[in-house]
Amino acid sequence: MKKKNILVTGGLGFIGSNLVIELIKQNYFVIIVDKKTYSSNMMNINHLNKKNYKLIISDINNGKKISKILNQFKPVAIFNLAAETHVDRSIDDPSSFIQSNINGVFQLLEQFKKFNKKSKKSKFLHISTDEVYGDIPKKKYSVETDSYKPSSPYAASKAASDHLIKSYIRTYKLPIIITNCSNNYGPRQFPEKLIPKLIINIINNKNLPIYGKGNNEREWIHVNDHCNALIFIFKKGKIGESYNIGSDEILSNKILAKKILYLCKKKFGKKNNSKIIYVKDRPGHDVRYALNSNKLKKLGWKKKYTLIDGLNSTIEWYLNNFKWVKKLDKKNYTKRLGVKN
Ligand SMILES: NC(=O)c1ccc[n+]([C@@H]2O[C@H](COP(=O)([O-])OP(=O)(O)OC[C@H]3O[C@@H](n4cnc5c(N)ncnc54)[C@H](O)[C@@H]3O)[C@@H](O)[C@H]2O)c1
Repeated sequence: MKKKNILVTGGLGFIGSNLVIELIKQNYFVIIVDKKTYSSNMMNINHLNKKNYKLIISDINNGKKISKILNQFKPVAIFNLAAETHVDRSIDDPSSFIQSNINGVFQLLEQFKKFNKKSKKSKFLHISTDEVYGDIPKKKYSVETDSYKPSSPYAASKAASDHLIKSYIRTYKLPIIITNCSNNYGPRQFPEKLIPKLIINIINNKNLPIYGKGNNEREWIHVNDHCNALIFIFKKGKIGESYNIGSDEILSNKILAKKILYLCKKKFGKKNNSKIIYVKDRPGHDVRYALNSNKLKKLGWKKKYTLIDGLNSTIEWYLNNFKWVKKLDKKNYTKRLGVKN
C-alpha cells in the first residue's frame, strides 16, 4: 500500500526532527520543509533512509513554494514546527520572530486555505507553547480557554500566530488544531536551551549558570512524549480545538539543575567540579508555567517518560553523541544573550 504523506515544517530542528523520526517509524513518507537556521542540523536526519523522506530547503514565507509542495505531495497532515524559538534571542532582536512565527504562519494559512478547497482530507496542526498563557500563580494551571498573556517577544509571536489560526478556523472553517506544549527536552536539542546546556557544561567540567535565584518553575516533557501526543492528536483530536500537552512534572530551575548534576556525577563516576552559579536574570522572566492537560488525557493520551528516566536517557544521548555537539558552531550557544534592555 502507498504510504501517506505528511509535511513537517521545521523538521531539521529539535522537536521537528524527533517527529520526523517517529512518523517514519509509523510508516509515513515525510516531506521536510526547513529554512536551515542556526538551530537546524542536518545530522538530525542524516541517519534516516532517504527513501522515507524528502528534504526541501525553504522559508515557510515562500508562498509559491509551499503551494507547489502541497499540490505535489497532497499531505494528509501538515505539522507546523518552523519557528524562531529562543526567548533570549527574541529579547535582543524580535524581528526574525515576527517574520517566521507570525508572517510565516500567515503564509502557511493562506496556502492551506487554497489547498483545502481542492483537498478536504488534509489537517493542519499548529505547534505552540505554554508560554502564550504567561506567568501562572502557584497551584494554578493553564487551561485551553484561558486568555493569553505572553511576556516575551517569542511568546507574543506564538500567541499572535495562535490567534491568527483561531480566526482562520472560525472564519474559513479550516481543519486546524492548535497544540500548546510545555518545555521539551531530549536528544538533538540545540544547547542554547537549559537542559542540554547543563549536561554539556557538566561533561566539560564547567559551572552551571542559572538565571536569577533559580526559582522559576517550568513543566518538563520528554520530546518523544510530545511527538507521540502530536500524532495522537492528529488521529483523535477534534478539528478546531486547542490541546495542552504537559507532563505534570513541574519544578524550579534550581532543583532541575541539582537533579541533572546528581545524575551526571553518578553516571560519570569520576571527579567533577561543576557547580551551580547564579547569573543576571532574564528581563521579564516568567516565574511559573504549568499546564492542565486533562483535555488530552481524557481523549486517551498518556506520557511514557518520568522526568528521571527521561533525564537519564538524555544524558546518555549527549554522552554517546558528543560528536554532534562538537560539530556545532560554539559561538551560537556559548554567548549570554537576552540581557540588553
Ligand atoms: N522546545 C520547546 O520546549 C517547545 C515547547 C513548546 C512548543 N515548541 C514549539 O515547537 C516548535 C519547534 O521547536 P524546537 O524547539 O524544535 O525549535 P528549533 O529552534 O530547534 O527548530 C526550529 C526549526 O525551524 C526552522 N525554521 C525557523 N524559521 C523558519 C522559517 N521561516 N521557515 C522554515 N523553517 C524555519 C529552523 O531552521 C529549525 O530547524 C516551535 O514552533 C516552538 O515554538 C517548542
